[in-house]
Amino acid sequence: MAVGSKITGVGGYLPNNLVTNHDLEKMMDTSDEWIRQRTGIEQRYWVDDSTATSDLALEACLAALDDAKLKKEEIDLIVLSTLSGDVDFPGCACFLQAKLGLPGVPALDIRQQCTGFIYGLSIADNFIKCGPYKNVLVVGAEIHSKGMDKTTRGRDISVLFGDGAGAVVLSKTEVNNPETDSHIIFHDLHADGRFAMDLGMPAPGTSHGPNRMDQEMLDKNLHFGVMNGQKVFINAVKKMPETLRHSLNAVEKELSDIDLFLFHQANLRINQKVGDILKIPAEKVFNTVQKYGNTTSATIPLGMRDAIEAGKLRPGMLISLTAFGSGFTWGTIILRF
Ligand code: ACO
Repeated sequence: MAVGSKITGVGGYLPNNLVTNHDLEKMMDTSDEWIRQRTGIEQRYWVDDSTATSDLALEACLAALDDAKLKKEEIDLIVLSTLSGDVDFPGCACFLQAKLGLPGVPALDIRQQCTGFIYGLSIADNFIKCGPYKNVLVVGAEIHSKGMDKTTRGRDISVLFGDGAGAVVLSKTEVNNPETDSHIIFHDLHADGRFAMDLGMPAPGTSHGPNRMDQEMLDKNLHFGVMNGQKVFINAVKKMPETLRHSLNAVEKELSDIDLFLFHQANLRINQKVGDILKIPAEKVFNTVQKYGNTTSATIPLGMRDAIEAGKLRPGMLISLTAFGSGFTWGTIILRF
């Protein structure tokens, strides 16, 4: 018998404002056809002015707690991944912790963007295995709509992203039979900082001179994200198959043993290409990017929630979670659900 961790609750939350590709056509020079052809995205949700990232995270956490049938007081660690925190510091997990009403419970921010949920789950798994932690909230939450240039100048990025949050409760468990018991089996994490500014937000930051932020940086639009789309595409379709193959080798499983593949939702074309490279049957891949756009660290837990609701993710299934994103960072988790 070994100590491990398993997912005991899954929840998600999307804001109310539905924004279709046709809505974007009114804000910038773009078209529904361009967006669908290149990304598969049809719509996304954006928050209203009064909502902060921790508000979205709170709703997702409450839904995950409800699903796990746990009281919030049973949570002993909060791990939140976001690139769009409420403020620059302190970390967004502290705001979430206050809104959950859990003073004293440790709250940790993860800043690995699209791979953030995978990093967060790995960290939570290790905290459970090594420490006194029994129930950990692992959350991915993003508000992109407040940080994008929604004019034609920013169209290469602003058509891609949506707001949303997803959360799981990860709980301590005894693994008696590793072949059948629900638990996190393996994680594989990577980063390559040589590509840091191929997908990032230049300002505010300490790399600019005397000020973290000033008018000149604002005038140069350094507070909006930048992306080398083709470099992201090429690296994503190389690294995602690589980490998935490595993880399966490590646990002595075949691609055909995986019941459901949950990939980060950047772009339908990336996921189709990864599926083609690995010869994965399309029905084994669950995509949500069409409905939600790219919600960065929220895509995987939101995908889990929707896959459960669709009857595609069921207890006992062997599943893989794989992501690639800013950093560049990438990784995989293999788990028995
Ligand atoms: N609407 C209309 N035209 C646009 C838009 C838009 N929203 N954005 C760019 N264009 C124009 C460009 O200006 C360019 O025009 P030009 O030929 O007159 O110069 C033309 O469309 C082609 O631009 P490219 O950037 O070459 O378009 P590409 O075919 O590479 O598609 C895309 C861009 C979809 C971003 C692609 O590079 C891609 O799939 N990259 C992967 C990156 C990605 O999906 N990132 C998501 C976030 S990152 C993550 O989560 C991992």
